[in-house]
Amino acid sequence: MDKVLVAREVFGDIVDRLRLHFEVEDNPRDEVWTRPQLIERLQGKAGAFTTGSERIDAEVLAACPALKAVCNMAVGYNNIDVAACTARGIVVTNTPDVLTETTADFGFALMMAAARRIGESERYLRRGEWTKWHYDQFMSPDVHGATLGILGMGRIGQAIARRGALGFGMQVIYHNRSRLPHEAEAAVRARYVDKANLLRDSDHLVLVVPYSPASHHAIGAPELALMKPTATLTNIARGGVVDDAALAQALREGRIAAAGLDVFEGEPRLNPTLLDVPNVVLTPHIASSSVTTRRAMASLAVDNLIAALGCGPRAGRPPTPVNPEVLTMT
Ligand code: DGY
Repeated sequence: MDKVLVAREVFGDIVDRLRLHFEVEDNPRDEVWTRPQLIERLQGKAGAFTTGSERIDAEVLAACPALKAVCNMAVGYNNIDVAACTARGIVVTNTPDVLTETTADFGFALMMAAARRIGESERYLRRGEWTKWHYDQFMSPDVHGATLGILGMGRIGQAIARRGALGFGMQVIYHNRSRLPHEAEAAVRARYVDKANLLRDSDHLVLVVPYSPASHHAIGAPELALMKPTATLTNIARGGVVDDAALAQALREGRIAAAGLDVFEGEPRLNPTLLDVPNVVLTPHIASSSVTTRRAMASLAVDNLIAALGCGPRAGRPPTPVNPEVLTMT
């Protein structure tokens, strides 16, 4: 029987499905293992159930020669060196689709919270500072009818575009590495623009671009300088996409109106300067965290692991491989 490692605590009933096929080592106390601890626990394991918190790079792979499959419970897989896995014939899988709508809901909510100053005004109320109604209290830009900008037009970007265009009467513009086919653009009523125009024209800019060296600090001081002083920025992509220090400074100086951040460079640590900025809404990487969606993500990762290690009804055909070419290697 193959051995597998479940690197973080996840739904027990879903992990139990792995026990029908494998000898499972799990992490019931949900410790965040150091790299040497992770390597130690991966010894002799054919498969790993990982989350975005575990870094699986070339060094880890070299130290864990039994590994055949790394199944990530996340759509993003920037924590895994896919090229190094492919070179070693290791299957990598992720959890796309099942989280699209939930993550888009959250991205939209975070954008609205930032734009309509919900965090800021709630803190004011809790501090007991609300003594009377006043006509310009927490005035903000509108969301409906405004221009929604989207950087990264994958499945989640398109789901956000649909919400903006169809639900809120927004004009949607987007920038992406590759332009969508005409029918896909028409379906979400989005217009392709270059990055500079996206920054200049967006009233509310939402980032949904995958993290890679190419998207590192895609939004830094020069990009923030192009945005309108009334604009908002929402990041539900990955921390490194935004230069958080530059953003904190732009917010403090009123160079943009507000921001909503669900992801941070070096999370769970935060750039401390963000904590002192009033016009930013901060959440702990929970965009996909509805009960149904987190269960669906865990379940898909388990299905992937079972199939990737040659078991179950889809033996050898994991549902959502990131490097499918490995599956056809002999
Ligand atoms: C993802 O799936 O990539 C989300 O960020 C949750 O980790």
